[in-house]
Amino acid sequence: MILVTGATGFIGSNLLYKLAKYNVCNIVATYRYKANKDKIAALFRSKFPDGNLKFERIIWRKAELRDLPSLTEAFEGVKKVYHCAAFISFAFSDRQKLYEINQKGTSYMVDLCLKNKIEKLVYVSSIASLGSEENETTVDENSTWDNNIDKTPYGYSKYGAEMEVWRGSQEGLDIAIVNPGIVLGPGSPMEKKIKSMKNWFRFYTPGISGYVWVEDVTTIMIKLMDSGIKSERFALVAENWSGKSMILALLKAQKKNYTVIKMSKVFFYTFWFVEYLLEIIGLRKRFFTKALIKIIFNDTKISGEKIKSYIDFKYTPIGLSLKKLNLDKI
Ligand SMILES: NC(=O)c1ccc[n+]([C@@H]2O[C@H](COP(=O)([O-])OP(=O)(O)OC[C@H]3O[C@@H](n4cnc5c(N)ncnc54)[C@H](OP(=O)(O)O)[C@@H]3O)[C@@H](O)[C@H]2O)c1
Repeated sequence: MILVTGATGFIGSNLLYKLAKYNVCNIVATYRYKANKDKIAALFRSKFPDGNLKFERIIWRKAELRDLPSLTEAFEGVKKVYHCAAFISFAFSDRQKLYEINQKGTSYMVDLCLKNKIEKLVYVSSIASLGSEENETTVDENSTWDNNIDKTPYGYSKYGAEMEVWRGSQEGLDIAIVNPGIVLGPGSPMEKKIKSMKNWFRFYTPGISGYVWVEDVTTIMIKLMDSGIKSERFALVAENWSGKSMILALLKAQKKNYTVIKMSKVFFYTFWFVEYLLEIIGLRKRFFTKALIKIIFNDTKISGEKIKSYIDFKYTPIGLSLKKLNLDKI
């Protein structure tokens, strides 16, 4: 059987959908809340004429990454694992929870993979756990992680999780890791952000971000699982776009012609400082970190080229991905 963790999330549910589309049977999926599982049932009904049947073929097991006994039960009869579950937050105040779910939870997953003699683990990491060196213009899978460069709590948790996966590999587990950039697709965290920020489309930050279409991510994950490729990580980025290009594309999609305004670093550092003071006097929990501000203003590109020399694959262009999101209707 094939285990998919985080199957109620954006990437996990898209993977589940793709596996069902390929008629892959014997899928075990983890969930925490019935309401989120019900949303996947609705998704299946909307995507397949026999959606109910396809959904009912999936074995759903309730599992929490911080609870080893529930994870242990989820592994029963499993031979292959896609580990997509994680907690995503850039808030400084969430650092302990990020560590517990992403790093410690992944260490439980790796221990269970070893114990259950799992044939292969495909782990969804992030570009947040790629290394970066000062003065580097392009980052890839080989960039060195420098502990002297400050990272976000999310970045530390995903890097720590990846280290656990590499430990598994050292102990004999076959692994492959994907490090997607910002993943675009219907229902993605990015789409939700675009919807909630649509009245703020006049403002942008100048940094560069790497983007990839969700179906590309799930296609690559399945190809990696079914291939002999092991002990490799792959940054998945179709294109790098500046904040200005993205905001202009979003405005164009909405047929709006506003003048766009660049936000300054001073604004963010002032906000960071005010939050810092409010936290000291107990009035607010801190969201911003200096590392996050650095990312927002970062002008380093990420190369997603390596995967193309391992599997036969072409990324969906980001312009087309944005079109598929029907941004004119938000
Ligand atoms: N979205 C992106 O742009 C992006 C980019 C790069 C990497 N990634 C990585 O891709 C993976 C999936 O991200 P996503 O966008 O699909 O996130 P998502 O939509 O927030 O889904 C997260 C999934 O993890 C589950 N989960 C969260 N905390 C858990 C816990 N304590 N125990 C068990 N399950 C838990 C959630 O279950 P509930 O439904 O119960 O909450 C949900 O199914 C993550 O590893 C993330 O780091 C995402």
